[in-house]
Amino acid sequence: MALPLQRNLRGGPGQLGLVRWAMHRSLDSLSGRVCIVGVMNPSEAQQRIGELRAEVSRHDELYYRRARPEITDFDYDQLKSTLAEWERRFPEVARALGAATPTARVGDDRSEGFVRVKHRLAMMTLDNTYDEGELREFYARLGKALGGEEMAFTVEPKIDGVAVSLTFEQGSLTRAVTRGDGEEGDDVTANVRTIRGLVTQLVGERVPAVIEIRGEIFLREEEFRRINQLQEEAGEAAYANPRNLAAGTLKQLDARLVASRGLEIVVYGLGVCEPAVVSTQTAYHAQLKAWGLPVVERLWSVRGIEAVWAAVQELDRVRRGFVYGTDGAVVKLDSFEQQRHPKIGFRGMGADGRAEVARKLSPRWACAFKFPPDRAETRVRAITIQVGRTGALTPVAELEPVVLAGTTVKRATLHNADEIARKDVRIGDAVLVEKAGEIIPVVVAVLLGQRPVGSAPFVFPQYCPVCQTAASRGAGEVVWRCLNVRCPEKIRRGIEHFASKGGVDIEGLGEEMVALLLAQGLIRTAADIFRLQMADLLPLKKSGEVWAGNLIAAIAARREADLWRVINGLGIPQVGAASAKELARTFRSLDTLAAATTVDLLRVEGFGEKMAAGVVTWFADEANADLQRGLRAAGLNPTPPPAGSGALAGKTFVITGTLPTLSREEAVAKIEAAGGKASGSVSKKTHYLLAGAEAGSKLAKAISLGVPVIDETEFRRLLQVGP
Ligand code: IVH
Repeated sequence: MALPLQRNLRGGPGQLGLVRWAMHRSLDSLSGRVCIVGVMNPSEAQQRIGELRAEVSRHDELYYRRARPEITDFDYDQLKSTLAEWERRFPEVARALGAATPTARVGDDRSEGFVRVKHRLAMMTLDNTYDEGELREFYARLGKALGGEEMAFTVEPKIDGVAVSLTFEQGSLTRAVTRGDGEEGDDVTANVRTIRGLVTQLVGERVPAVIEIRGEIFLREEEFRRINQLQEEAGEAAYANPRNLAAGTLKQLDARLVASRGLEIVVYGLGVCEPAVVSTQTAYHAQLKAWGLPVVERLWSVRGIEAVWAAVQELDRVRRGFVYGTDGAVVKLDSFEQQRHPKIGFRGMGADGRAEVARKLSPRWACAFKFPPDRAETRVRAITIQVGRTGALTPVAELEPVVLAGTTVKRATLHNADEIARKDVRIGDAVLVEKAGEIIPVVVAVLLGQRPVGSAPFVFPQYCPVCQTAASRGAGEVVWRCLNVRCPEKIRRGIEHFASKGGVDIEGLGEEMVALLLAQGLIRTAADIFRLQMADLLPLKKSGEVWAGNLIAAIAARREADLWRVINGLGIPQVGAASAKELARTFRSLDTLAAATTVDLLRVEGFGEKMAAGVVTWFADEANADLQRGLRAAGLNPTPPPAGSGALAGKTFVITGTLPTLSREEAVAKIEAAGGKASGSVSKKTHYLLAGAEAGSKLAKAISLGVPVIDETEFRRLLQVGP
């Protein structure tokens, strides 16, 4: 797994010292040497600038194009500002090295397979600062440029997502384009149309003829974890954080896959707007909301630098409650007229340090203040290997306990063997830990200066630490696995998962009890649970009649568990609760599912090649087929969902106009597969009118009858989650 990017970290006032120290350290470790810019000579500067340009460009490529960064945002920001400082101090050297420097361009996210589209107005970026003093300087600079005019500001969350520009023409969403290189981005319209909560038609008044609305696409923490778990189970590299996963998802060529991952969007920015409809950022925010678009949760409209700073600090206190990750505050001059004031201008610095190069990189009317990461230093006591239910071997750093963002951290994931080797984490090392996405602690760097003498690189075990079977790793996979179907740890975890809340949900059969039953030889597989008798359980606890009776009753009550729970409980790679529900709806019994071919599975809503293959391969494994038969023999009789109980059961749809990606036949097939009905004419009994471009009289009739009108995006959402 790539090194986590860290954006959502907390930094209280007392932390500045640590942050500065960490900055120094990280620069030191990244560049491999400590240097004082001022005392270098031009030839050393030339080498340094060359190295730093190459290094920043490499990280730009990893971050923007591949969504697989290797260093934290914080370290990246430091690296880039070091380069900027070198270029500022040695402008002749920088010029001699050529104009191609990462400090003079917006990262480039354009990738193969997408049509490139020019933005009507370039998408710029903002300079970052972690320093309160620099924020105050920004304020003072604007005050000076405006010659003492009254100034109002907005303070907004800086959303940690992927920038996108949405074009609405006559109120209709016509294009969604990534930032690209700022001038030209990738057309991701089909993918963006699958985003829930994004209206594709602006509602209400003051809708301009053409408007470019800028925003940020993101994934919620829960969704990030759900998808990452599936990735890991499939032996693929997990994504470092929600932002990377959102970026990776947005660049998928299959809109169906995109629809299965819950991307969301929030909008805040303006490109071209013809005719202009508002004149301040505050009014623009209100207008976006009135048009039905999702906007930032809080926006502070303030005057005076003290009020700006107070708002930034308040944002830092409340941002944890937001549905998206935030990595800072964006402070904007509120008035559009003032923003355009010629004395304010843009930064467009080239390699030569002059500000008058052609490209505008960032406006000077806004400033991004980033919250420093929460980091702490501790030591690695041991590196242990966890065995997951799919056999994945996950290395874990056992740490000397350290308080981080208010909680005591004792363990941190090291993700996989490659990751340990890349960071060269060794037992006994002093390390910096951060909280990634504020939840999972991660080791971000080894403090090489404090490495104990005689330490040795960690050797990833070539065998399962529990059953000692040789571990294996498939071609192109990052995860080592124990493939022993009899591995006691895999079995234990598998049974635990089967009985868990997301699985068959047997009350009283948690982690400890599963371990006890296994240790006593009372169960060997999940099927044995259904063969347990009172007499088996009574000896396990003193005066345990009531407890044993309850457990036996709880097991009996789940003999007819919902089919989807059983499917989910089996732990088939790639299959989570939502896909288990789809499988249950489509196949209606375990036997039918077991016999399903790839072709059958590809017809299931939300299933692509990989998921279909995952199911087929799972049932082809003799041990799994045995388990399935064993469950039946032990009396498990799963309950299929009632007929016609699909997500759209009982709902009647009428389709009109041309849908963006679905043909009429495909839409009808989806409605029917989800238990709904497609009808030809609109009446009071119609539940939804699914309307595409050039919808005619049916649309007018639906509106007059008050029948809800939905577009393809909303239709896809209904298919996933129901009305
Ligand atoms: S305003 C000219 N407002 O952060 C660019 N940007 O580091 C004006 N971002 O490029 C951007 N939240 O991708 C603005 N509330 C917000 C933002 C925001 C996230 C992103 C955006 C921008 C980058 C700047």
